[in-house]
Amino acid sequence: MAILVTGGAGFIGSHTVVQLIQSGFDVVILDNFLNSDPEVLNQLHTITGKEIKSYNINLLDKEKVQEVFCENSIDAVIHFAGLKAVGESVAKPLHYYHNNITSTLILCEVMKDHGVKKIVFSSSATVYGAANKIPLTEDTPLGATNPYGWTKLMLEQIFKDLHTSDNEWSVALLRYFNPVGAHTSGLIGEKPGEIPNNLTPYITQVAAGKLDKLRVFGNDYDTKDGTGVRDYIHVEDLAIGHLRALDRVLTNTGVDTYNLGTGKGFSVMDIIQTFEKVTGVYIPYEVIERRPGDVAVSYADTTKAKQELRWVAEKGLEDMLRDAWKWEQKQGKCFVPHLVKRT
Ligand code: UFG
Repeated sequence: MAILVTGGAGFIGSHTVVQLIQSGFDVVILDNFLNSDPEVLNQLHTITGKEIKSYNINLLDKEKVQEVFCENSIDAVIHFAGLKAVGESVAKPLHYYHNNITSTLILCEVMKDHGVKKIVFSSSATVYGAANKIPLTEDTPLGATNPYGWTKLMLEQIFKDLHTSDNEWSVALLRYFNPVGAHTSGLIGEKPGEIPNNLTPYITQVAAGKLDKLRVFGNDYDTKDGTGVRDYIHVEDLAIGHLRALDRVLTNTGVDTYNLGTGKGFSVMDIIQTFEKVTGVYIPYEVIERRPGDVAVSYADTTKAKQELRWVAEKGLEDMLRDAWKWEQKQGKCFVPHLVKRT
């Protein structure tokens, strides 16, 4: 079976490609390398021992996408490609709506033309907006607080409408919590463009001496130590979740939504302390004001994925941070200036 993976060179996409190949699927990658490195393709070859077909294509280019479907007999699609920086989406809403939504419409039109109606879609826990009941179940009321979040929410609705119009469509909407870590080989991982927005790449870059210190966004939340609490999930567990969701779309029709998280919440201070414990590297930090748009606590109720996909996250926080650090150290320019533990 051949699976088209859009954004297959990206952070979650590349880890999912490894799982697909190791489970015996043929994979075709479509990526424009806007937010990923073509070198990932070589690393995927090293990890899997397979030559993976890939296309450097922008999904907004419908003719090119048509060509991919003409040249390959695609059975299903896993759709990761999209812009994902919250702050940038606030600054450039039209760019985000156009890129994320138009590209998905084009993808679905081409899929429809070729009779391919099975898709796993990268959604996000951001679609729960500022929900106040935790843990978040798939039935929690939805909302968004920025254009990036709205694109995910709108696309979820578009997939539901598509299935209403034609019940042969089979769709899994995967709401990711906070993916972190890297492949245990250290060969693939997260490559944030400039200064990272997310906590763990920021911490690993501080540890590597690339950034001076971590800014903790607020310690006056209603949490055990006042810092924000999130559901961090190892990217390899997340990738396996895609395999389970793919099995489901290949054998069912309908639209199913799943939270992919561990169901456990950790604070920013937990992350700093666990990172220091597993790596022996001290993380200097200062507490500054809250980041606009952040919620205090977000973690998943994972019952549905467990019951329907027979999937649970296996790796713990220590694995995630150890693998993230292993990956960072392979990125070169690592000064490790803070080898003294906090007293
Ligand atoms: N944080 C800091 N300092 C930093 C970065 C983050 O203190 O430099 C804190 C945040 O305030 C938050 C926690 O670390 O409490 C996690 O922040 P991230 O930016 O790593 O992750 P978010 O939960 O804010 O965002 C993630 C994804 C988004 C997605 C969102 C909801 O990055 O794409 O989860 O699912 F929309």
